[in-house]
Amino acid sequence: MKILMVCLGNICRSPLAEGIMKTKVPENFFVDSAGTISMHEGKHPDKRSIKTAANHNIDISKQRSRPITTADFEIFDKIYCMDIDVMADVVSKTNNEEQRQKVSLFMEVLGDHKNAEVPDPYWGGMEEFENVFQLLEKGCSKIAEQILP
Ligand code: 4NP
Repeated sequence: MKILMVCLGNICRSPLAEGIMKTKVPENFFVDSAGTISMHEGKHPDKRSIKTAANHNIDISKQRSRPITTADFEIFDKIYCMDIDVMADVVSKTNNEEQRQKVSLFMEVLGDHKNAEVPDPYWGGMEEFENVFQLLEKGCSKIAEQILP
């Protein structure tokens, strides 16, 4: 099983989602993350995401930002989008229905329509990053329940 987490810049939310998801699945699962923009390509995650993960004993400091590519739609089984704009962008890059079926909104796994999106913490402070961590932690646990035998 190969899982891709996607946000806008691949420096705040999806690196955290990748780091958390990796703690939930066995090593033969492949978990990666990407962004819909290439602005931060090659950069490590935002310092606030690194610190938030570290507060929960997860090391995401070695990750590097990369934009999503057409190959990702072939490689990955499941592609989780952090918000509705990201989802629309990702869906627009798919080439067929089989690829489209792989794409979903991350928060849908929790069935909570009030919090349909993982909010972008980029302009916020550590509190916003911790809130994102908590949402991602809940969602990743649910995803693990769904995909693990
Ligand atoms: P992310 O957060 O999509 O969770 O990585 C952001 C990163 C960068 C920007 C916005 C959101 N930006 O505007 O550069």
